Amino acid sequence: MASEKIFNWGVLGPGKIAHKFVQDLLTLPNARLHAVASRSIDRAREFADKYHAPYAYGSYSDLVNCPHLDVVYIATPHNSHCENTLLLLRNKIPVLCEKPMGINQLEVQQMIATAREQKIYLMEALWTRFLPAFQKVLKIIEEDQIGEVLTIKADFGFRAKFDPKSRLFDPALAGGALLDIGIYPAFLAMSILGKPSKIKAIAHKGSTGVDESNAILFEYSSGKMAILSSSILYDSPTVAEIYGTKGKIIIPGRWHEAKVVKVIDANGEETSYVFDYPQCGYHAEAIAVMKDLAENRPENSQWSLKNTLDLSNLLGQIKADFSA
Ligand SMILES: NC(=O)c1ccc[n+]([C@@H]2O[C@H](COP(=O)([O-])OP(=O)(O)OC[C@H]3O[C@@H](n4cnc5c(N)ncnc54)[C@H](OP(=O)(O)O)[C@@H]3O)[C@@H](O)[C@H]2O)c1
Repeated sequence: MASEKIFNWGVLGPGKIAHKFVQDLLTLPNARLHAVASRSIDRAREFADKYHAPYAYGSYSDLVNCPHLDVVYIATPHNSHCENTLLLLRNKIPVLCEKPMGINQLEVQQMIATAREQKIYLMEALWTRFLPAFQKVLKIIEEDQIGEVLTIKADFGFRAKFDPKSRLFDPALAGGALLDIGIYPAFLAMSILGKPSKIKAIAHKGSTGVDESNAILFEYSSGKMAILSSSILYDSPTVAEIYGTKGKIIIPGRWHEAKVVKVIDANGEETSYVFDYPQCGYHAEAIAVMKDLAENRPENSQWSLKNTLDLSNLLGQIKADFSA
């Protein structure tokens, strides 16, 4: 039997999430960290040494010359995702790019068009889509266990330390709650109810001008709705509730990374599904990418480039409503 291919991963932008991703990645038998690119050679070497990667680069552009590189995970602030992705795709290097894939629809369109022109793999790291708990939620709905979904409620809030120069608060780094965490409730509603026919959204903009808290309503035909919010000013329960005609699903906090799903039927009978794995959950998206690459698929079928573009369009409409 042919032995399983080992994928050589690169990391571009070795910050907080890159550490978490790589720690999960290295639990997989068919993945290793091969290269790290930072704006500083010292940071690249430190990260590479920690995870035993053979190559470290002190500039992102040098990464494209790395030999035997199979795929790169981009973990820079949102505003750099497009530029970093284009650099790699144009050098024929497959990309898993952190969310949001671009800061607006134009960037996302350009990234997708480049992936298609170059015939190189691209996926947005919408990791929740690949988690067993989320897969279970979709299956419960598909099997009609809670009937027709009528309303979705979901929030995501955490208290971030105020620093006007940090990526969460700096408008130059595309800061704000919506693009950083509001993307998750929007993703949940879009995955289950599709694109809304009407959006109403408000935002509290802080001293730097970014949305620090927001509240969003999605309206669908036949009275379905989603009630969503996100904030970088306070810790909120970060729970998702999905109400159907025959019952409801509760994904306890923090729902976007949950390992538990609760289903409550019309009689109040509760069934819990528990998913046990040692990782944070980033391994699941990495497995999906490696499977796609091994099978020569140009993109992922569960979180397609069309899904990414639709979500980006939705975020754009919400942002436009903030200013209306
Ligand atoms: N999936 C998730 O659960 C999750 C969680 C958190 C964040 N994220 C996403 O991951 C991305 C990075 O977030 P993070 O929290 O890891 O950020 P971070 O800790 O600030 O790291 C970002 C890294 O990008 C590089 N970088 C490039 N240009 C930069 C600039 N102008 N300012 C600051 N850093 C810059 C830096 O590395 P070098 O200078 O060494 O190159 C930095 O360490 C964001 O897009 C965010 O949405 C995802």
